[in-house]
Amino acid sequence: MSALAGRRVVVTAGPTFEDIDPVRFLGNRSSGKMGFAVAADAVARGADVVLVAGPVTLPTPEGLERIDVRSAAQMHAAVMSALPCDAYLGAAAVADYTPASVSARKLKKQPGQDALVLQLVRTRDILADVAAHAQRPQVVVGFAAETDDLEAYARAKLAAKNVDLIAANRVGVHGSGFESDDNTLIVFDARNATPLGPASKADVARGLLDLVEARLS
Ligand code: CTP
Repeated sequence: MSALAGRRVVVTAGPTFEDIDPVRFLGNRSSGKMGFAVAADAVARGADVVLVAGPVTLPTPEGLERIDVRSAAQMHAAVMSALPCDAYLGAAAVADYTPASVSARKLKKQPGQDALVLQLVRTRDILADVAAHAQRPQVVVGFAAETDDLEAYARAKLAAKNVDLIAANRVGVHGSGFESDDNTLIVFDARNATPLGPASKADVARGLLDLVEARLS
């Protein structure tokens, strides 16, 4: 039997949208496919799964509870209210910055205004807050998308956010990353680096959950 059977698992997926005004937002290219694949595989192992999804157009995998959110702040609140859990996998591409204020009216360009400065403020770090929670999940997994220095940045995140595993992928190369159905990850813990893929996101999710299982049992 899987070590995930009967365990509570919280997964985040997709982008977040940070509103600027009623018609505009700051978003990113995350499709949500990786997080949805992880959530579906956790269900297949008998876990009790909560999937907190940003704005994506994917169908809901069967057998889990899905909570839809839009912004980083909403995702933070949804994740905190889903705790405690046994394993947390933060696959969402959460905005690091959000507009300091949301304009209630559509911003209009002004004659002669050739540049617009938007003030952004840092969002709360959901992953770090989960890892620092009084009832910390036994296994906390973060994701990192990097264009350069993958291992150095991934290992820095592992330490800075006190997480157990960082699933890192290189963005900007074929067969990896955002819109693709395939992915290539290197999963770092304090000692090891485990390559997963290139393979379908379903297969990569399976490999990742094998590593989570090994830490739970
Ligand atoms: N994350 C989060 N809350 C945030 C920002 C990020 O939970 N407000 C999580 C993501 O879900 C992912 C990991 O943190 O698991 C990504 O780490 P992060 O340091 O945000 O990566 P980048 O956005 O690439 O930031 P950096 O500029 O430091 O590389």
